[in-house]
Amino acid sequence: MSVRHFLTLLDLSPTELETLIRRASELRKMQHAGEVYQPFVGRTLGMIFEKSSTRTRISFETGMGQFGGHAIFLSPKDTQLGRGEPIEDSARVISSMVDIIMIRTFEHEKVEKFAEYSSVPIINALTDDFHPCQLLADMQTYYEHRGSIKNKIVTWVGDGNNMCSSFMAAANQFGFELRVAAPYGFEPNPDLMEKFKHCVSLVEDVQDAAKDAHLIVTDVWASMGQESEQNTRARRFAPYQVTPSMLDKADPEVLFMHCLPAHRGEEISHDLLDDPRSVVWDEAENRLHAQKALMEFLLQDKIKLS
Ligand code: CP
Ligand code: NVA
Repeated sequence: MSVRHFLTLLDLSPTELETLIRRASELRKMQHAGEVYQPFVGRTLGMIFEKSSTRTRISFETGMGQFGGHAIFLSPKDTQLGRGEPIEDSARVISSMVDIIMIRTFEHEKVEKFAEYSSVPIINALTDDFHPCQLLADMQTYYEHRGSIKNKIVTWVGDGNNMCSSFMAAANQFGFELRVAAPYGFEPNPDLMEKFKHCVSLVEDVQDAAKDAHLIVTDVWASMGQESEQNTRARRFAPYQVTPSMLDKADPEVLFMHCLPAHRGEEISHDLLDDPRSVVWDEAENRLHAQKALMEFLLQDKIKLS
């Protein structure tokens, strides 16, 4: 059987995604109940990080440990990856020794190339273009708080970045309507806008975009790698700050999400994370459970499920 990878949400069918996030909720309950479930004894996860991380590193490493396996943190500073060993060679060698690999890097093409030469599943743990693992946790969190997201309205506020592109793919896979309110010049990738035009639209006025929304989401104004643009971006994005009063214009059942880390006083007001409509802490914790479900799915032929 050919190896399955998870480079974007489009690598899994809508049915597989739905099953996966339900399994994530089950794993969350098992973990909270103190149940020991170790299907990955003797298995190893390779974790390649070319960008910083708190949540992604801790959730993958802890998840693998809870499953009875082992995780290795690989930084370009300490491996030959940082000294120019070709991706093709690194992929062949690393995948000959570990069972599954996650990669956080800059160019999306790099994870695609790694996957092409890998004999084990590759997980995209964030590139400049997509962050699909975050969306698993986000969808799980929505289901846990509100049930199905099908036919709901989701509003993205801010930069048309990797998280926004992932929400566009999620709109297609989970069947919701996505409205994007982004400043001129920071709109989402036009090819993706065309591809997902049946479920994604741009909205001029950010306050209009919030109207009737069931979920409002934002992210940092300058992503990793864009630090030098921080000041220019702060000026352009100032009207796009998400506040409790913006949430008041939405559906009464609206939720607020942010992948974190958040910048209070920039993309969110100082009080937003304390608002009862914010579910960012559950969202962050669900990275652990969603990625455990993902690893279990990708290695299902090698393990015994319980
Ligand atoms: N949301 C997220 O991916 O966080 P980290 O950058 O801390 O991993
Ligand atoms: N868009 C952000 C997400 C961080 C989790 C970045 O790429 O830096």
